[in-house]
Amino acid sequence: MIPAAPDQEPVLANLLELYAHDFSEFHQLELGADGRFGYKYLPLYWREPDRHPFLVRMDGKLAGLVLVKRGSEISSNPAIWDMAEFFIVRRYRRRGIGTGTAHEVWRWFPGPWEVRVMESNQSALQFWERAISAFAGETIPSVRVEKGGKYWHVFSFESKRVP
Ligand SMILES: CC(C)(COP(=O)(O)OP(=O)(O)OC[C@H]1O[C@@H](n2cnc3c(N)ncnc32)[C@H](O)[C@@H]1OP(=O)(O)O)[C@@H](O)C(=O)NCCC(=O)NCCS
Repeated sequence: MIPAAPDQEPVLANLLELYAHDFSEFHQLELGADGRFGYKYLPLYWREPDRHPFLVRMDGKLAGLVLVKRGSEISSNPAIWDMAEFFIVRRYRRRGIGTGTAHEVWRWFPGPWEVRVMESNQSALQFWERAISAFAGETIPSVRVEKGGKYWHVFSFESKRVP
């Protein structure tokens, strides 16, 4: 996992298109007239200090992206770290890369965390249940939350600073 430099914004934008297309399978997402889903918050990741963009690489090849930001989407608590977007490309799935990357992210940003998953994204729900429990060393149950007419599962846990 490598912090993404400002000149890599187009790379993240391309990966976010693949991510959005995956999501469109279970979530209503409409393409724009330009044939792209678009991600309007992306430029903010190099402008705002509490947003952190990363690229995931595997043997030098692009394998995914992570967008981290500070501030809860659920409670508005500004201290919470939020996993805004998390994506491993299909080519590299089911090899433990997602779990390894998530653990790296949580070690990178110690403190209180929230991971939000749409209820319709059942595979991600199973993934986060396992990845978070392995990181925390105990089962962390998710809380079901309704937001904007949709149901989410929210995992809340602490990433402790490793001495
Ligand atoms: C969810 C995602 C990040 C998982 O990445 P990954 O690198 O394949 O995850 P891992 O290989 O570390 O998986 C670890 C475990 O999670 C569970 N898991 C992962 N993908 C799963 C799936 N599609 N269905 C059910 N369980 C799954 C399994 O228990 C897996 O262990 P196993 O392979 O030994 O069975 C990836 O599929 C992805 O990017 N999906 C699309 C984007 C997305 O949904 N992101 C999350 C938004 S909240």
